[in-house]
Amino acid sequence: MADLDALKETKEYYLDIPQKSDAFYLKGLNALDWGMQNRLARIFNPKTGRTVMLAFDHGYFQGATTGLERIDVKIMPLAPYADTLMLTRGILRSIVPPSFTQSIVMRASGGTSMLKELSNEEIAVDIEDSIRMNVSAMAVQVFIGGEHEKQSIINMTKLVDQGTRYGIPTLAVTAVGKDMVRDARYFRLATRICAELGAHYIKTYYVEKDFETVTASCPVPIVIAGGKKIAELDALKMAYNAVQQGAAGVDMGRNIFQSEAPVAMIKAVRSVVHENETAENAFELYRSLKEQG
Ligand code: R5P
Repeated sequence: MADLDALKETKEYYLDIPQKSDAFYLKGLNALDWGMQNRLARIFNPKTGRTVMLAFDHGYFQGATTGLERIDVKIMPLAPYADTLMLTRGILRSIVPPSFTQSIVMRASGGTSMLKELSNEEIAVDIEDSIRMNVSAMAVQVFIGGEHEKQSIINMTKLVDQGTRYGIPTLAVTAVGKDMVRDARYFRLATRICAELGAHYIKTYYVEKDFETVTASCPVPIVIAGGKKIAELDALKMAYNAVQQGAAGVDMGRNIFQSEAPVAMIKAVRSVVHENETAENAFELYRSLKEQG
């Protein structure tokens, strides 16, 4: 017990120092509660305001797709270089050790396979399980213009409502149907609808033309998906252009884990996202790390 006799009489209230009241560093998210902002700060690096999310949730509708046959062998060695892991609860519980302390964004929608109409999905995780697994955000697919557009939007709003009750943010993932045009006009529509209806941040695809209008008209942060595997230099150019045009980072999967040198690639992506390195310099880094093995 503290010795009461030794209590100091003098106290310092620092009357000349006003208490700091800084705005939260992520766009459009200033009015959120402490728990929400704290979880978002575990996803988006507070120093750069950006994130490198490593996405490997593809199995939820594709099964053991190329590069994800053995997540323990191929993906876990990449995990230390990601700001956050995006995965399903099945993989989280079966493969990721609970001692892993980086943030988790958990896929919370599902119900269809690649053999059927993908937009016909629902919320596939109870909010209680997200809390149990201590996730930093929940991800839900939204199919604007898709066959089950309304159902997928309502999935998202339900998840936003559930997450808001417990301080867990929702990531809306804009899914593009096979027949839809992937252009800035479509992504402005899709991302804005998700933000208007409460998503805390949004994953979309990069488009060469007018991508900055997509980020400008979306009031909350945008991250880009990597999409199909392309040459490493091209993937780095895409990431560079996206962040320079207002994206708050990447949620990249195949272009990292299907690379010939995945660890070198994720390090190169990090340099583009967090250090504003050019794609060419990042590619040099990739090459030299690859050579070193
Ligand atoms: C799609 O199945 C998931 O939402 C992925 O997380 C997303 O597409 C990002 O992965 P990739 O960079 O491979 O497109």
